[in-house]
Amino acid sequence: MLEDKVLTLIGAGKLGEALVLGLLKNSGLAKDDIRATVGHEESVKRAVDKLGVATGLDNKAAVDGADIIILAVKPQKMESILAQIAPVLKPEQLIISVAASITTSYIQQRLKGDNPVIRAMPNTPSIMNAGMTGLCGGEHAKEIHLAQAEQIFKCVGETVFLDESLMDGVTALSASGPAYLYVVIESLAEAGVKLGIPRDTSTLLAAQTMYGAAKMVLESKAHPALLKDMVTTPAGCTIDGLMELEEGKLRVTLIKAVVTAAKRASELVES
Ligand SMILES: NC(=O)c1ccc[n+]([C@@H]2O[C@H](COP(=O)([O-])OP(=O)(O)OC[C@H]3O[C@@H](n4cnc5c(N)ncnc54)[C@H](OP(=O)(O)O)[C@@H]3O)[C@@H](O)[C@H]2O)c1
Repeated sequence: MLEDKVLTLIGAGKLGEALVLGLLKNSGLAKDDIRATVGHEESVKRAVDKLGVATGLDNKAAVDGADIIILAVKPQKMESILAQIAPVLKPEQLIISVAASITTSYIQQRLKGDNPVIRAMPNTPSIMNAGMTGLCGGEHAKEIHLAQAEQIFKCVGETVFLDESLMDGVTALSASGPAYLYVVIESLAEAGVKLGIPRDTSTLLAAQTMYGAAKMVLESKAHPALLKDMVTTPAGCTIDGLMELEEGKLRVTLIKAVVTAAKRASELVES
């Protein structure tokens, strides 16, 4: 589906680079099929060295002739980027935005035509091909556009389609989520250090345990509570640890963290 397509990435930053690397590895697109832009001259060399695709500063020139345009700039830059490219866009060009907080209607209002627009919310594990991307289509996005977007983000991990009203929640849960989970890994590793385990070993124990637990949830499809019960022997040591987590309000703290981040996600840019 992406064969013969030309793809332009506006904003070859952390996330944009991960996407291009995934596409080059898994989509069938070649370096010649992809171009990128950055905001500053000094970033051009970095992007070229890392991605090997033509990279420049001219967004208007970069979108000319592209079939798919991915917008991966900071949300606060979207207004000016859309103002730059809107006059030169052709109606059939597909626009995919990964910017937090920016709705499809925000983009649609700033384009001159009825371009198909898709909003995507990936996360940084996309760099490791273990990303999670929430996707939704705007007013003019058709099945073919949704399928193309799905194919793009499948190159860097899993995808799920949701109603746009849930996208701030996705931002707070799976896009911000790695940060929360790094804190959990770091804390478990600290616990190992407190118990005398060397830090490197302790971090490995913690990270591989989180990876394994996630794999159990994903592959067994069992409810996490059931998997937790499998580890928790009556009168064993795990139940004592779980009681500490309950007393420390881990559950409600995580719930509140995601709910608060979702509220902030909805406020990053005024529509
Ligand atoms: N990081 C995440 O975990 C994550 C997850 C999901 C979604 N997102 C979304 O992804 C977007 C990018 O985030 P990021 O973390 O990748 O940020 P980033 O590393 O700062 O990347 C932003 C990129 O945009 C470029 N840029 C700035 N002004 C530009 C312009 N006028 N024309 C073309 N490119 C321009 C920057 O170039 P210079 O370096 O030269 O300034 C940089 O390469 C954001 O909207 C964010 O909400 C991020």
